[in-house]
Amino acid sequence: MALEERARSCLLRFRHKLEQDIKPSFLMDHMISDGVLTVDEEETIKTQPTRKHQAVALLDLLLRKDNRAYISFYNSLVKETYEDLASLLYADLPSMSPNAHKSSSDGRTPYVQTVLSEGGVPQRPGVFVSRPELLNRIREKLHRLQMEPGWVTVFGMAGSGKSVLAAEAVRHHSLIEECFPGGIHWLSIGQLDKPDLLVKIQSLCFRLEQSLDSQSLHRPPNSLDEAKERLRFLMLRRYPRALLILDDIWDSTVLKAFDIHCRILLTTRNRALTDSVSGAKYEVEVESGLDENKGLEILALYTHTKPHRLPEEARSIVRECKGSPLVVSLIGALLREKPNRWCYYLRQLQQKQFKRIRKSSSYDYDALDQAMAASIEILPEDHRELYKDLTVLEKDIKVPAKVLSVLWDLEPEEVEDILVEFVNKSLLFVDNNNKPYLYYLHDLQLDFLVEQNQFWLHPCEMHCLKCACIFC
Ligand SMILES: Nc1ncnc2c1ncn2[C@@H]1O[C@H](COP(=O)(O)OP(=O)(O)O)[C@@H](O)[C@H]1O
Ligand SMILES: [Mg+2]
Repeated sequence: MALEERARSCLLRFRHKLEQDIKPSFLMDHMISDGVLTVDEEETIKTQPTRKHQAVALLDLLLRKDNRAYISFYNSLVKETYEDLASLLYADLPSMSPNAHKSSSDGRTPYVQTVLSEGGVPQRPGVFVSRPELLNRIREKLHRLQMEPGWVTVFGMAGSGKSVLAAEAVRHHSLIEECFPGGIHWLSIGQLDKPDLLVKIQSLCFRLEQSLDSQSLHRPPNSLDEAKERLRFLMLRRYPRALLILDDIWDSTVLKAFDIHCRILLTTRNRALTDSVSGAKYEVEVESGLDENKGLEILALYTHTKPHRLPEEARSIVRECKGSPLVVSLIGALLREKPNRWCYYLRQLQQKQFKRIRKSSSYDYDALDQAMAASIEILPEDHRELYKDLTVLEKDIKVPAKVLSVLWDLEPEEVEDILVEFVNKSLLFVDNNNKPYLYYLHDLQLDFLVEQNQFWLHPCEMHCLKCACIFC
């Protein structure tokens, strides 16, 4: 259980004041008897040469502990008559009553938010509908990892909502508390070669080691084997009962690097991936898309309408999108911009106006391509050209606006406006966990763009461009 954001921020704010005044040896007795500090930890702190150094070490440790430790520290300040200092911490005391953390959905409590943001789990998309049946299936499988390590695979076609479901499944107070008290750690994988994979594991190890002890940072592992061993050690010794979420795995060789007897949730388009790794395995298929009502709910949310007030074309649009959450969202975003185009978009979808090279994959990309093409088509000519430039972005790479300003050779303010336009049209995604915000394309969008760019540039297709029928 992690320290709540408010409490952490309070400790950081008053850290120097606390370090100047407290006598750790007095406070630690109380904290030991509350069971939030071990005798070993006390010994380590006492080895520090001066009172001030001991105070720094105690604060460092406290920041890595939980709400109970914060409360015990506060109580010990009161008992040792540091009332002034205690009053600094009072306003941000976490509430420990059994139900205080639980909202009606047991989901977005401060505790859950802290654990998930520490582990880099993405937030919900702006427009979001619940999928309770699938969520329960994933949570039920995750519960089976409570007693022993293993793998839960969430698989389904691109854009079917796997990543959103995986993040939502762990947004659950008692699931984390009961099954994964060691935390939840999210890793976006995608199509990677070995050097990239090594970098991913290096940064995961760095993150895990840093939150244990910021003083002693280790040299990064410099081969995949070494990285695997480092991660095995960390998960086994330092983060037992933590969950790793590996998002969008393509390749079983990647999975082998994580075959270290720990708890893993993975999303993939390829069901058979875990055949090559050992341990208990469970799977959940995100088989079909959204049912009709959920699709309508998404369109309603995008267009700020009640579902029963949607125009009659809405139902057919959802059907044409085959319930794909990604495609419905793309069309929803288009309709938010052009609310009188229901009929037009439905016609486009029905006439398969944007039919293009079919992928050799078993998945049905047609509906997605139609929606993507429609989104790009409504951009003003000059913005369309800028959007095509985004093919230089690589999968799973997120960039700040500054990079795009260089790429497009435009003023930052102009870039800002264009990015807002792209994001609103679901043509680009924004990660606002970071400052500055980072922008990225969904991997399907990138695939689409790369292919279209080849097409756009191919001389034989030029006459097609001229007749404005770029996809026929
Ligand atoms: N439950 C949902 N509610 C609303 N939109 C969703 C939902 N799930 C997915 N989406 C939309 O579909 C897009 C793709 O979802 P994602 O989970 O990334 O798919 P996948 O991982 O299967 O490729 C999201 O960016 C979002 O716009
Ligand atoms: Mg995904």
